[in-house]
Amino acid sequence: MAMTRRDEQLHHQADQLTRLARDLHSDEKLFILKHWNAAATNRHRTTGAWFTPLSLARDLSIGLGDSTNTVIDLCAGIGHLTWECRDLAGRLWNNQDPRRVICVEREEEYVRVGRKILPDAHWICANAFTVITDPTSYGIIDRVDVAISNPPYGRADINGTGPRYTGKRAEYHVLDAAAELAQRAVFLIPQDSAPFAYSGRQNYVEKRSDEYERFVRETGLVLKPNCGIDTHTHDDGWHYPAPRTEVVLADLQPARQEAHQPELALTAQ
Ligand SMILES: C[S@@+](CC[C@H](N)C(=O)[O-])C[C@H]1O[C@@H](n2cnc3c(N)ncnc32)[C@H](O)[C@@H]1O
Repeated sequence: MAMTRRDEQLHHQADQLTRLARDLHSDEKLFILKHWNAAATNRHRTTGAWFTPLSLARDLSIGLGDSTNTVIDLCAGIGHLTWECRDLAGRLWNNQDPRRVICVEREEEYVRVGRKILPDAHWICANAFTVITDPTSYGIIDRVDVAISNPPYGRADINGTGPRYTGKRAEYHVLDAAAELAQRAVFLIPQDSAPFAYSGRQNYVEKRSDEYERFVRETGLVLKPNCGIDTHTHDDGWHYPAPRTEVVLADLQPARQEAHQPELALTAQ
């Protein structure tokens, strides 16, 4: 969707802030998160960078739980999900140390802006599918508690695949990749790819598409519903027409246990 003149002015102001040499104040960072618009960069059309509204990111953060100390944001953009998933106030209230956060994003320009907003995060400017092949060389030493993501959707060009899933949906590939790095996942994915539909509807229904069944079969992962988040209520916060989405949770352990099981089964015959 084309940017209005007002959007362009606000983006310009936000971009000026990202170029200041000094550290930014919280209100300046919030201004950037709200108004720095990927549509103003030439790369937007090829990267599909639909940044998550902060209010939706805040709702998604509920899925992390109190015991989460380390978080990795895959396909992080400029860091909208990470900003909220740090839960700074909640951690302070509970006398907990700040969460350690890692952001993986392949676009240099987004990482430049992200570093101004979240200087304490460990930013990795790389293809997420390369990072999973050798995490330690990117400074990821231990398994992370939770992987968060609003990944590219559908047939977007993601330049890689997860180790198990062989289908065509980008969000499933990123979930599959997350299992190489983290214990659990909290993802925003298209409603079509979730095994349920709740957001923007009057009732909750379970549904399992053929592609979802394939994802489960190949990865061993099962996607679960969240605590009742209606993502539709955040539709006004997107820079573009809001995609129909759901927040899904997953225990990532089964993917690692079931890795290459189909090949093992074939060898045994
Ligand atoms: C839908 S946007 C979401 C950005 C951010 N997660 C958010 O919620 O605001 C998806 C992001 O994934 C990034 N991306 C796409 N493929 C990637 C890959 N293979 N490795 C790392 N980042 C990737 C894009 O550049 C884009 O910033």
